[in-house]
Amino acid sequence: MKTRITELLGVDHPIIQGGMAWVAEHHLAAAVSEAGGLGLIGGANAPGEVVRAEIRKAKELTGKPIGVNVMLLSPHAEDVAKVVVEEGIKVVTTGAGNPEKYMDMWKAAGIKVIPVVASVALAKRMEKYGADAVVAEGSESGGHIGEQTTMTLVPQVVDAVSIPVIAAGGIGDGRGIAAAFMLGAEAVQIGTRFVVAKESIVHDNYKQRIIKAKDIDSAVTGRSHGHPVRCLRNQMTREYAKLEQEGKSFEELEYMTLGTLRKAVQEGDITNGTVMAGQIAGMICREQTCREIIEEMMEQAERLLGR
Ligand SMILES: Cc1cc2nc3c(=O)[nH]c(=O)nc-3n(C[C@H](O)[C@H](O)[C@H](O)COP(=O)(O)O)c2cc1C
Repeated sequence: MKTRITELLGVDHPIIQGGMAWVAEHHLAAAVSEAGGLGLIGGANAPGEVVRAEIRKAKELTGKPIGVNVMLLSPHAEDVAKVVVEEGIKVVTTGAGNPEKYMDMWKAAGIKVIPVVASVALAKRMEKYGADAVVAEGSESGGHIGEQTTMTLVPQVVDAVSIPVIAAGGIGDGRGIAAAFMLGAEAVQIGTRFVVAKESIVHDNYKQRIIKAKDIDSAVTGRSHGHPVRCLRNQMTREYAKLEQEGKSFEELEYMTLGTLRKAVQEGDITNGTVMAGQIAGMICREQTCREIIEEMMEQAERLLGR
């Protein structure tokens, strides 16, 4: 399926793997790229040198393009922004802010810049600053979210900008891809389904929690402070909700969740850790390789779209 996004990124399929903190490391990114999608390394809060090492390890596993997600709020954002240039990365997605200050440097290096947005206003601003495309991410997604759903956000962003739009949030099979295309998207970004990929280094407890999840098993913490995060319900989300209701400050709650995603991803603590995952977790029922996931989804999407 050729779109402006497959052309822009030089990939076979219009599928991007989300640059997920702690999850999107070199094994996953390389496997997705090898299967014809675009694999991303999640910069998260990691120092520049850690991201550099991840990029180099991914390049040992694949000669295909890979990208990096730069978290603009990270204390290391400036370093990571330079590392992607030095390492010859050709695609950057950005989260949590405005990438304007890096735009000239990235453009000069031939990097395609794709900010993640949760509103029409931000999408338009990113287009004005020179973004090559945007990821319109709905609140069904795992991780940090906005308030608009994918169904409402994608067509409104598509109408508001002329650059191509990538839909994210709640897409877990070919039906989701076909639906996103009907809304005007030219590619999709997928997070939760890739968390349970065979090549994903996420602890088996985490993967099994997603595989066993029902449709209603996710919860959003942090809404009252304007920092909503979607994860699967557990002791941590219940404790968080209780403290949030009691009026604890954002700083106190942040302190409580410090390092809890790493604890779930690496140690498999799915009781007190943060098990970030989207609402589509209820539909994800088995571990497969990235190639199986991509081929199965594309075959179904192409059939539905009559291509
Ligand atoms: C465990 C996890 C961690 C995530 N971390 C990030 C991140 O660091 N940066 C980012 O831009 N998006 C992050 N996301 C969002 C994904 O990149 C993607 O947009 C989202 O998962 C898509 O929705 P889905 O989960 O319904 O497929 C994260 C998602 C998950 C599930």
